[in-house]
Amino acid sequence: MRIRDQHALTFDDVLLVPRRSPVRSRRDVDTSTDLVRGIRMAIPIISANMDTVTESEMAITMARLGGLGVIHRFMTIERQVAEVLRVKRAENLVVEDPYRIAPTATVAEARRLMDEWGSGGLLVMDAEDNLLGILTTRDILFEDDETRPVAELMTPRERLVTAPPGTSLEEARKILHRAKVEKLPLVDENGRVHGLITAKDIVKRRQYPQATKDEKGRLRVGAAIGVKRGERERAEALIRAGADILVLDIAHGHSDNALDMLKWLRDTYGEDVRIMAGNVATAEGVRDLAEAGADAVKVGVGPGSICITRIVTGFGVPQLSAVIECSEAAREYGVPIVADGGIRTSGDLTKALAAGAQSVMIGSLFAGTRESPGRIVQRQGRRYKVTRGMASLGATMSRQDSAEIDIEQVVPEGVEAMVPYRGSVVDIVRQLVGGLRSGLSYAGAYTIPELQANAEFVPITLAGMQESKPHDVEVL
Ligand code: XMP
Repeated sequence: MRIRDQHALTFDDVLLVPRRSPVRSRRDVDTSTDLVRGIRMAIPIISANMDTVTESEMAITMARLGGLGVIHRFMTIERQVAEVLRVKRAENLVVEDPYRIAPTATVAEARRLMDEWGSGGLLVMDAEDNLLGILTTRDILFEDDETRPVAELMTPRERLVTAPPGTSLEEARKILHRAKVEKLPLVDENGRVHGLITAKDIVKRRQYPQATKDEKGRLRVGAAIGVKRGERERAEALIRAGADILVLDIAHGHSDNALDMLKWLRDTYGEDVRIMAGNVATAEGVRDLAEAGADAVKVGVGPGSICITRIVTGFGVPQLSAVIECSEAAREYGVPIVADGGIRTSGDLTKALAAGAQSVMIGSLFAGTRESPGRIVQRQGRRYKVTRGMASLGATMSRQDSAEIDIEQVVPEGVEAMVPYRGSVVDIVRQLVGGLRSGLSYAGAYTIPELQANAEFVPITLAGMQESKPHDVEVL
């Protein structure tokens, strides 16, 4: 047995000491950061792979804002793949493989596909990829005969505006504007479809200039995997679907199980996949994962709002100290650190980054938003959404293989809880990033690396923390 001679600290134990600042406007600072080795993002925020936080809607919004969403893994492989595809198809420069339907398909079939894909327009194409027409929701809105073939209802090829393959986005914008249409199929001289440019994609590019995108202009997305049997198959399917980052996520990431999976991923896919691995809370944990091939390491054992790991097992390291120790080790390997769990405010975000993390992962703070999965519940006139630890009893029971679960054997390491409904995640992210920008200016820093270089933490007492919050007033 040994005992460390220093107390470990967390966010509320410290404040950052203000410094003389050359920053004249919060607009001048740069919040961009490393997401994983080789991929950057405009804001240092990732939504957590929890089933009450991130599915495609959250992931699309986070990527548009310049962060990232990680699709959770507590669903079938097929469903997780579909969620990844939704994100990858949400925006494109050119849609290479547009949603299509055969001319002989029925109205009922068209409705089903539009619903399944969440698309309001399908290209009607024959088996040789020839364009025959376009079918939109408007064409079938009032059609009562569900058995009619779509060929009878589509706008036929001769009435469509098309352009040749290789048309630039600027040219496409002009054509769409002139013709007052929303879809521009790219068709060669033989009538074959090579892609599709949509008005929506062009507008989105202007609306979200900071979005986290791949080289084809598609939003980036992460997808979580575990270490149990079947997870190799999951990894394979997610890579094929185009997930940008696999997040190998288990509660005790510094374990042989996690290291074996990581090595298998590296041996199998080489440098073609980007892998974020965790969770750990020590320098040794970071070193082992980095040496096994992690492109980013997630730090946090027990700081999460819904975590009871520390209570149930007695293990964990207060998050600020864990991030400091882990990021020092990670620097030797050039591997970014993600501070995962316990972020409640923009002050916590700034402290986590100042401590050495390149980004933070956020769960429950985002669980109460419109973009998170699950319904709004009413209680005593107030609106809430549910959040739950992925090792809570409820989450464990609703897993695929719950038939095999013996309830007596379940030892939950998370709780289920309610969080106030807070509208769109866009507003929360805006507040967080606004607070971070102010924080950078207090540190005399224009960038996150400068914040880290300039950071000086001062430990505070409970009285100091009380003084930091509104006190001796009735907050309205
Ligand atoms: P916040 O504080 O943002 O934390 O809600 C989110 C992170 O908490 C972790 N997590 C858990 N930890 N038991 C735990 O000990 C659980 O059941 C559990 N579920 C999630 C996870 O790292 C997440 O990103």
